[in-house]
Amino acid sequence: MSQDIQQDHGRHIQPLEDWQRSHHCSQLTMADNGAAVSLMGWVQYRRDHGGLIFVDLRDRYGLTQVVFSPESAPEAHGHAHILRSEYVLAIRGTVRPRPEGMTNPNMVTGEVEVVVHDWKLLNTAKTPPFPIEDRSEAGENLRLQWRYLDLRRPRMTQNLALRHKAAQAVRRYLDEQGFLEIETPFLTKSTPEGARDFLVPSRLNPGEFYALPQSPQLFKQLLMVSGLDRYYQIVRCFRDEDLRADRQPEFTQIDIEMSFVNEAQVMHMAEGLVARVWKETLGIDIALPIPRMRYDEAMDRYGVDKPDTRFGMELVDITRAVRDSGFKLFAKAALVKAMKVTGGEALSRKDIDEYTEFVKIYGAQGLAWIKIRADEWQSPIAKFLSEAERAAIVKALDLQVGDLVFFQAGEAGMVNAALGNLRVHLAEQQGLIPEGAFNFLWVTDFPLFEYDEEEKRYVACHHPFTSPQEGHMERVKTRPQDARARAYDMVLNGSEIGGGSIRSHSALAQRAMFDALGLSAEEAQRRFGFLLQALEQGAPPHGGIAFGFDRMNMLLAGAQSIRDVIAFPKTQKATCLMTQAPDSVSPEQLRELGVRLRETEHKA
Ligand code: AMO
Repeated sequence: MSQDIQQDHGRHIQPLEDWQRSHHCSQLTMADNGAAVSLMGWVQYRRDHGGLIFVDLRDRYGLTQVVFSPESAPEAHGHAHILRSEYVLAIRGTVRPRPEGMTNPNMVTGEVEVVVHDWKLLNTAKTPPFPIEDRSEAGENLRLQWRYLDLRRPRMTQNLALRHKAAQAVRRYLDEQGFLEIETPFLTKSTPEGARDFLVPSRLNPGEFYALPQSPQLFKQLLMVSGLDRYYQIVRCFRDEDLRADRQPEFTQIDIEMSFVNEAQVMHMAEGLVARVWKETLGIDIALPIPRMRYDEAMDRYGVDKPDTRFGMELVDITRAVRDSGFKLFAKAALVKAMKVTGGEALSRKDIDEYTEFVKIYGAQGLAWIKIRADEWQSPIAKFLSEAERAAIVKALDLQVGDLVFFQAGEAGMVNAALGNLRVHLAEQQGLIPEGAFNFLWVTDFPLFEYDEEEKRYVACHHPFTSPQEGHMERVKTRPQDARARAYDMVLNGSEIGGGSIRSHSALAQRAMFDALGLSAEEAQRRFGFLLQALEQGAPPHGGIAFGFDRMNMLLAGAQSIRDVIAFPKTQKATCLMTQAPDSVSPEQLRELGVRLRETEHKA
């Protein structure tokens, strides 16, 4: 062993010197039989067997079995007993076939092993907090705390490699289409995308704050005013909002903007992009063009604006059928919808109770149901329904014996949200969603505004820079609830993976939008004066789209959470368990920034 041995936990650690890897750990096959090779990686397992010591050596590519043999290389074998899981080593040796009956057809390298002649211990490792393997059942918090170890697990490594592949496919496609990759500022002014801003205090301008961008929306529009024509960026966005499995406080968009285009042209470009990504990552051909559905139809049939079209169970409007019902809840309701679960009679009372709790998240008071039995309708509400109503319901839902129907009655927003989300939840729980399907869908013709009950004013459905549809400008001023937007969302398996619009490119139209949103002329000038000014400097017609790159990768990888496709994600509470961010800062730092904390807000 080398002269300059260092001591580490009593083990001998050696410098790499001029050793070089000849192969990675998922490369050697029988074609390399007899070759002298050099591998480096981590000890997955060590097994001592009849005088031989076997080590599965792992790197990001895979595993190779290496053997320390007392006959072939007694010196190398002599020290090998010190090896433990996750020790880092370099070996030099010769490739040979594994003995009869010892091959592993599930591994690329499963037919061979490397007999070690010489090796170096590059580093030791403490026992990891969880085994580094896919079937490891460590809880997510532990995984996030030790994220760099979690990322050694093959599935996580593969997710990051897939993400890289997807990013490369995007860059190649957009480059071929003449797009320029241009960076935009992170320290900027607030861009409203419907979430709270992350703010950064300015030391040089005390009392003033930058906002981290919720998206590069305004900058990409300004680049169109500059004549840059086709822009893209794979870019971090920051939104301080309530987190879920498909949301992070910082996330990545494929952000795109184009000049001299209409909706169809942006959508065509976007379809080409996803087709290219699916082809280059999974080898899958997406059928183009992607089907389209108007927002109204999506709400009507699925109750949500991002329908999962991989399964049926569509919602059926039965308001008219029960208009004169003896069941007052139905008779009085603005909207009554039903959802048939084919064969759902088998659902237990416990399931139904759980679904009843589930819909309460969406403001429902309860969940009415009927089980269609051969002899009777089993239901808490059946007794209120007349023969005619029953017949109308059977007809509307094409009911058969064995089916179950859920009902929701009330204000349209609640009814759609409750049943629409129950539809997906139930299908997931009951295993009704076909595996391996990728159902893409465009949702179009969104309302331009929605009424915000809390703020008592209209807010933009997409964002305030979205153009109203042709001829809808008058509605913006007089009946905003009826104005439609030149906006489109791309939905995949019930997840919104992208959204965009054609923008208002005249200052006049943009001012009318601000006005409809309740922004005074002064306020509009203060916040968006730079945009309004730019729109008066020869802004071309323009539009674009942004894809949620993390969500796209989650679906590509078949992961359950976007955290599984982000190297260092945050928890649902927006913290990093590894670095302990966010953290308190020193009084000096705060003083420099001109920031004083209220007593109660100091971190304990
Ligand atoms: P939008 O707000 O729809 O549009 O965002 C585009 C896409 O980004 C993804 N996304 C998120 N992903 C993870 N975590 C989040 N917190 C999060 N929020 C959004 C979604 C969404 O479809 N500037 C416009 C685009 C445009 O008009 O061109 C915008 O940001 O997949």
